[in-house]
Amino acid sequence: SKVALAFSGGLDTTVCVPLLEEEYEHDEVIGVTVDVGQPAAEFDEAEETAEALDLDHYVVDAKDAFADQCLDAVKANATYQGYPLGTALARPVIAEAILDVAKEEGCDAIAHGCTGKGNDQLRFEAVWRESDLEVIAPVRELGLTREWEMEYAEKKDLPVEGGNEGDWSIDTNLWSRSVEGDDLEDPGYVPPEDIYEWTDAPGQKETEDGEFETIELTFEDGKPVAIDGEEMPAVQLIEYLNDLAGSYGVGRTDMMEDRMLGLKVRENYEHPAATTLLNAHEALEGLVLTEEERAFKKQVDQQWAEKAYEGLLSAPLVDALDGFVDTTQEKVTGTVTIKFEGGQARPVGRESDYAVYSESAASFNTESVDGIAQSDATGVAKYHGFQSRLANEVAANVEAK
Ligand code: ARG
Ligand code: SIN
Repeated sequence: SKVALAFSGGLDTTVCVPLLEEEYEHDEVIGVTVDVGQPAAEFDEAEETAEALDLDHYVVDAKDAFADQCLDAVKANATYQGYPLGTALARPVIAEAILDVAKEEGCDAIAHGCTGKGNDQLRFEAVWRESDLEVIAPVRELGLTREWEMEYAEKKDLPVEGGNEGDWSIDTNLWSRSVEGDDLEDPGYVPPEDIYEWTDAPGQKETEDGEFETIELTFEDGKPVAIDGEEMPAVQLIEYLNDLAGSYGVGRTDMMEDRMLGLKVRENYEHPAATTLLNAHEALEGLVLTEEERAFKKQVDQQWAEKAYEGLLSAPLVDALDGFVDTTQEKVTGTVTIKFEGGQARPVGRESDYAVYSESAASFNTESVDGIAQSDATGVAKYHGFQSRLANEVAANVEAK
């Protein structure tokens, strides 16, 4: 029997290879690595490790599909507890790609190296359990700890130098980089600067040249399509912004995250492009959507992000939410100027043909517009707060009795 393993070449998935043979009696294991924009070094590591393990290794390119998914997330301003969703968006894309390989290669089982404490097990399996393949989770089912894995790898002489990973558990894709585990598990532990790879320490670059850099982002129907007037495909646009915004220290998060199982965990993230695009997109929505559209969209966005966090963007609810999101995005066309300063990507200008904005109506320099004079607001001002004033007066009178 044959099993397809989600393979990264890291410690967890490396120990899974012999364990699938020894503990689950699968005589053939194939490893599948899905490209969602990890750095080249990670593929080299996966390739080398697979070779050393004599593992049949497949690499699937899902970069474009994933980049599209990230830009869809921008339309819904998708964040979870304040950070831009990254791993959560990638897992279903990875799971689908591995499932396709497993089916093509005639596997009867499919496996991942996630722990029984995290979110990723749930996201992978939500996709895989739609098929008839047996799902195997060796780390969870055998109750493995990282310490045990390390000893086992040494005993078996497995190739787990850890590469640039060291002691942290790292997950990288085009949209974000996550670092967790080891010393970082202590919420009070202040991380060393070297856990960050995508972002330079905020404040360094701008003080050197004394100037803050600005860029202009163009959106069409809620989707970023160009930087400073130059059109770019999704992958390139995201990579460009990760480099640029990262050099200004934009997009670091150090937080306590509530996982699906209810466990709190200390997470560190880097997401320069995501932060830049999300800030710009929200700024443009602020210009073109009505107040009530914005208020309602906040709730829709919240639900969308919730399902994305769970790895359940295939839920029927999300189709319905997308209907609302896409309708609103028809007006999210225009440009936003972003200034990189103090580790922030701050919107400092916005323009759109759909702007729900009348400069003459709002300006302090014009007296009357469309026949409405300032003095017409007097009646509104008299009524404003009337009910509260009445309620307070009634309460005071009752108390005085
Ligand atoms: N907790 C985050 C999430 O659920 C990221 C987990 C990434 N995994 C890792 N081994 N660093 O989306
Ligand atoms: C894991 O537990 O395998 C990684 C972290 C997560 O899934 O949340």
